[in-house]
Amino acid sequence: MVKVAVLGASGGIGQPLSLLLKLNECVTELALYDIVNSPGVAADLGHINTPARVTGYLPADEGLKRALTNAHLIVIPAGVPRKPGMTRDDLFKINAGIVRDLATGIAQHASNAYVLIISNPVNSTVPIVVEVLKKHCVFNPKKIFGVTTLDVIRASTFSSEVSGADPCEVRVPVVGGHSGPTIVPLLSQISPPQSFSKEQIEKLTHRIQYGGDEVVKAKDGAGSATLSMAQAGARFAASILEATVKGKAGIIEPSYVCLEADKDRGAHLKSAVGGLEYFSHNIELGPEGIHKICEIGDITEYEKKLLETAIPELKLSIEKGAKTTITNC
Ligand code: NAD
Ligand code: LMR
Repeated sequence: MVKVAVLGASGGIGQPLSLLLKLNECVTELALYDIVNSPGVAADLGHINTPARVTGYLPADEGLKRALTNAHLIVIPAGVPRKPGMTRDDLFKINAGIVRDLATGIAQHASNAYVLIISNPVNSTVPIVVEVLKKHCVFNPKKIFGVTTLDVIRASTFSSEVSGADPCEVRVPVVGGHSGPTIVPLLSQISPPQSFSKEQIEKLTHRIQYGGDEVVKAKDGAGSATLSMAQAGARFAASILEATVKGKAGIIEPSYVCLEADKDRGAHLKSAVGGLEYFSHNIELGPEGIHKICEIGDITEYEKKLLETAIPELKLSIEKGAKTTITNC
């Protein structure tokens, strides 16, 4: 039995993400939780002829508890999206409280689950979830993931538009965090190998770092990326299920994680990024979640400079997330 819960299931991301999860035949129960409309979304998806039984929950009648109980995997796209002119950090005021309350529910009712955090600002919401779980003494660093898959999906797409390569085949590691200058694409490590001019690298790097802004601007006040994010979230969730349910080894996905999840390399990884507790890396998944956090490897001088810019901004976002949880809980 593989139960997956989506928290924020009626939203712009939540609905297409729930659809894609309903199509994943590894899932036997899909629990949709939101403060509005979740029973309707569940009724609609429930007519699709795949194995997952779909249930919808609202806050009334212990809806969060019922959605979370026995969940193997929880995906959180709950929270407000950006409008033009806003940074992801501008969402902190509202989304921090939403994520903190949902994390409290997870600590109480599904402390063993894998948790995938989509809600922005991811650089801060992941530390919020971790601090709540720590407070309840149920924190397992191998099971908590900030979803940065959209950054690598964009890196594959945008770099392929320049090189002409097949975007399905192209992989570009993206490290750091998930906001503007904290998004650090490592185009020197693109696979299959590809060489770009200095100007192409600078333009591509900027486009990957600010890909979210492209969508926010184009949607013109109607929100941010939803459909590409749903695909990114479903891909990441599918990889977690492949590794933790089916036992498939060697799956690598990027994610913003707590570096202590890798006991062997954690201290070294931390010192390589100025002592940060959280960082996005390529992660090798295993039957218990994070099996290994991959190192950054050889990078160019340009990429080193990008990292130097990312680290202080990430530090502030991490502190903000962790501190707020402590004072407000
Ligand atoms: P949306 O407004 O369309 O949907 C959000 C949903 O969350 C709504 O249905 C709302 O009712 C629900 N919600 C609000 N408070 C809730 C609560 N306490 N419990 C449960 N549900 C609650 O927004 P969206 O476009 O789906 O974006 C959601 C979040 O995802 C935003 O914060 C956005 O910035 C973020 N996002 C992250 C990435 C990423 O790469 N990590 C990409 C795109 C968007
Ligand atoms: C994205 O990268 O598309 C998301 O983080 C949403 C946003 O606010 O840009």
